Amino acid sequence: MSIDTSKRQPKNVLVTGAAGFIGSNLVHYLLKRWPDASIVSLDALTYAGNLANLKDLDDVPRHRFVHGNICDRETVSTLLDQDIDTVINAAAHTHVDRSLLGADDFAGTNVGGVQVFLDAIKQRPHIRFVQISTDEVYGSQAPGEDADENYRLTPRNPYSATKTGGDLVALAFHHSFDLDVVITRCCNNYGPYQYPEKMIPLFITNLFENKQVPLYGDGLHARQWIHVDDHSAAIARVAESGRSGEVYNITSGKGMTNKEMTAKLLAITGKDESLIKYVTDRPGHDRRYAIDDRKIRTELGWSPVVDFDEGIKQTVQWFVDHKSWWEPIKSGQYRKYYEEQYGKRVEQ
Ligand code: NAD
Ligand code: DAU
Repeated sequence: MSIDTSKRQPKNVLVTGAAGFIGSNLVHYLLKRWPDASIVSLDALTYAGNLANLKDLDDVPRHRFVHGNICDRETVSTLLDQDIDTVINAAAHTHVDRSLLGADDFAGTNVGGVQVFLDAIKQRPHIRFVQISTDEVYGSQAPGEDADENYRLTPRNPYSATKTGGDLVALAFHHSFDLDVVITRCCNNYGPYQYPEKMIPLFITNLFENKQVPLYGDGLHARQWIHVDDHSAAIARVAESGRSGEVYNITSGKGMTNKEMTAKLLAITGKDESLIKYVTDRPGHDRRYAIDDRKIRTELGWSPVVDFDEGIKQTVQWFVDHKSWWEPIKSGQYRKYYEEQYGKRVEQ
């Protein structure tokens, strides 16, 4: 099979979910990678969206922020008419535990928002739509098994079910209307600006505060971890050269159990095991995610560059240096939310 990987050069890019963790890191990355491109950042500023994540871009002429919802047809159409050639859709409701408490927002944004975009792109078929999806759509893999892009779709929690819905809508619009759609499915990310409800930032910041870290179940659930900059580089590569209608898995291949990850964080922060608290497992908790990403590596020539041990140390250091970013989040809405939902599960 001969594959044309000649590069597209995006000029006017719309990044959604840009004030969240991956979206904000991606915008910073793309401004450097595409020096001639202008970027519009769109975000609804839900609890997870934070303009502090884009603050240093206030004076960058090639960047502007728009406060808006991807489910709003008028907002989407108006923005797409401003010469946009590439949409990278990172907007989503993203926390599995929250999706277990109520999934309306998840379905609305993760499925409905994708459809709103594709309806609008039907009228503007020159636009490339890059859907940022997740390895969770494949559900859990048995030991020794890796999911490639043809693996069965068996999402097993409301978050991943809605992400799968979004992928299927996007692929259906490609198939039915020949729209230029590409999908990425990445493993777990870590890095700066990750909201401290997710395991790594929650555990790092709890350890700084000498609070226990709540390890779900037996702690032997396994995830693969990639630095957010490596994910951004892969997304850019797919936007430039990915084949329309295709799915690309993205991973560092660095898998470990949550217990192993916790041990690393304890070692880096100089804390001991007395700060681990085993708590009731997440309902339906997927045991193991492991994906095969040979397709993006061989077709598009991407591979990760951040060494895990170095990347995680730098991430811990980032949280040391940016208390002013995470302390208000933890002492305000975050703590209130956890206390309401989980009662006494995490000792404060
Ligand atoms: P996040 O929760 O930090 O950020 C999501 C952002 O989307 C927030 O800023 C939020 O305000 C915004 N948003 C939510 N609903 C919106 C709407 N209707 N309109 C506009 N903006 C809206 O999440 P994240 O970890 O940065 O994840 C970003 C994307 O990457 C998601 O699609 C997620 O499924 C995917 N992903 C995440 C990971 C991971 O490990 N974090 C791994 C693979 C894929
Ligand atoms: O795999 C990609 C996915 O990774 C993304 O699609 C999701 O948006 C993102 O949230 C993430 O999902 P996870 O559920 O894997 O991430 P989380 O950080 O919530 O949990 C990581 C692991 O740690 C998981 O096995 C559950 C466990 N965990 C998590 C929390 C928050 C704990 O043991 N204790 C905790 O307090």
